[in-house]
Amino acid sequence: MKSMVIGGIILIVALMAGTYFVAGDSFSLGEDYINDLTMLAGVAIIGITVFVALKYINQIKNDTATGELAEESWDGIGEYQNAIPTGWGLAFIGTIVWMLWYFFVGYPTNQFSQIGQWNEETLEHQAKFESKWSNISSGDLQAMGESVFLVQCAPCHGVDAEGIDGKAQDLTRRISKASVLETIEKGANNFKTAYPGGMPAGMASGADAEAIASYVSGGFKGTAPAAYAACSACHGENGEGMAYVGPNIKSYDDSIIASVLKDGKKSSIGEMPSFDGRLSDTQVKAVAAYLRSLGE
Ligand code: HEC
Ligand code: HEC
Repeated sequence: MKSMVIGGIILIVALMAGTYFVAGDSFSLGEDYINDLTMLAGVAIIGITVFVALKYINQIKNDTATGELAEESWDGIGEYQNAIPTGWGLAFIGTIVWMLWYFFVGYPTNQFSQIGQWNEETLEHQAKFESKWSNISSGDLQAMGESVFLVQCAPCHGVDAEGIDGKAQDLTRRISKASVLETIEKGANNFKTAYPGGMPAGMASGADAEAIASYVSGGFKGTAPAAYAACSACHGENGEGMAYVGPNIKSYDDSIIASVLKDGKKSSIGEMPSFDGRLSDTQVKAVAAYLRSLGE
């Protein structure tokens, strides 16, 4: 034991001498008290470290174990049934308390976040937008629709809305004959929000389907072919549709545009992406008004 303490003291002196040898220039007592404090701290750290190390080395050498062994033994190595050290237990519980604090009070739930600020400002802007345009005149609505269309829709549907050679629907009319025939043959279930039941396939075929498709895509002019009776139960005699049962297939009313923009639409032409949440209610009505104006 004694020789170990002597060894420790020699180690401390050696470490301090080493420190002085490397950094001694900076220490001149009284001139710069920050440097003096640093030196003092260095001495303290060296001293405490050496004495703590000595204490444990000594304990390993001399301590004999007491207490009750646990029943399990791993290749002859046993474990004592010690109670949890109080400090360790307190630290464990403290960590849990800190975790709860961190989760519910501290970062990040209650702090500033850029995304939160963005969301707040967006909502504010949208509320302002809706109240500003709540009594919009039909002329302004159409003009707003045109500018939304040119930015959001023209890349696929073309600036003149004719569908860029069949790459997207021609929006200057409600629907093409080919689209009607496709829907009759295959049925449809694109507008899941407004028409969760969808439309069954095979409601008509052959010459009947042809006649119906010409009549529907032609804008419901003249007398309806007899076979259209298969459609009127859901789409109405005049094709203007019924809420929850069948959409308007005669013109672009606000609700069919809202459905297309909410759920998107897939067909052999391609895929119309969903604009859900990207346009406000007023903008959706505006685009519908603009599209109706193209057909007139
Ligand atoms: C990424 C390309 C793309 C963009 C952008 C796009 N569309 Fe489409 N849209 C399509 C395609 C492809 C179809 C064909 C699907 C179908 O009707 O069979 C289509 C179909 C439609 C239809 C026809 C739906 C029907 O039932 O007849 C409407 C209406 C429509 N789009 C409106 C819009 C509006 C309004 C915008 C802008 C807010 C827009 N689209 C933006 C590709 C696009
Ligand atoms: C049982 C009710 C029902 C009957 C009968 C019915 N439809 Fe439909 N139809 C629907 C529903 C619902 C939709 C919307 C489908 C969707 O969600 O994509 C639809 C969609 C359509 C569309 C596509 C509209 C669009 O913009 O994508 C066309 C065209 C159409 N029907 C034509 C017809 C014709 C023609 C007939 C008669 C042969 C007919 N439907 C019979 C319920 C019906």
